[in-house]
Amino acid sequence: MATPKYNRVMLKLSGEMLVGDQAMGIQPATIGRFADEVKEVHATGVQIALVIGGGNIFRGLAGASRGMDRAHADYMGMLATVINGLALQDALESRGVYTRVMSAITVNEICEPYIRRRAIRHLEKGRVVIFAGGTGNPYFTTDTAAALRAAEIDADVILKATKVDGVYDRDPVLHKDATRFDAVSYMEVLQRGLKVMDSTAVSLCMDNEIPIVVFNLNDEGNIKRVLLGEDIGTRVYSAAN
Ligand code: GTP
Repeated sequence: MATPKYNRVMLKLSGEMLVGDQAMGIQPATIGRFADEVKEVHATGVQIALVIGGGNIFRGLAGASRGMDRAHADYMGMLATVINGLALQDALESRGVYTRVMSAITVNEICEPYIRRRAIRHLEKGRVVIFAGGTGNPYFTTDTAAALRAAEIDADVILKATKVDGVYDRDPVLHKDATRFDAVSYMEVLQRGLKVMDSTAVSLCMDNEIPIVVFNLNDEGNIKRVLLGEDIGTRVYSAAN
């Protein structure tokens, strides 16, 4: 395998995509494919931190839109990310990849509490670190958790895996003539309200100059491609560099 472009990465996986072609939950073949790709890249020596969403189980915003208290619904969403984190840990460890799940909400019986210096040590020891429980606060998304943890552990990049192949100027589902950006600045994302991550996450990346690469996880092998620095998806960066 070619030399990876990055030393330490934050990979943000969508929880929703774990559903595969099921109605809900976690499809073993789908999580297995993610784990296979992470394993292959991990074998090259790249330090991998992971944040996974919880949308396949429960999404706080969706709960709030159906009349639940937003903070209450967000806490349920955070617990969903712990379930997904444990599922990913199982999938990776059954493939021989050492992992640690660290949660922002204390559930000590099932995973470690998040301690920044310890997370970095795990990464240095070659363990894949899965950050669960979001930021531990309601009103923040798992994208923001990925941006926050990426800043804390000094990740080179956030690799945001989604079901579309990058960032478009308009919704590509509604507009056939929508164009995909190869690269776009944080400021343009914020000013035009482009759908990359929520504005809190993008601002955090902008302030800390953490580039984001948005890519399609449905295409097999894309995690490897993006880690090797192939030009896929859209790169969100500071216009100044
Ligand atoms: P090193 O000190 O770098 O060797 O890290 P380590 O994670 O191997 O050491 P430690 O003895 O802290 O952990 C051993 C195992 O216990 C690992 O699988 C950890 O994930 C797990 N572990 C550590 N702390 C906790 C905790 O608070 N809760 C749970 N559930 N597991 C924990």
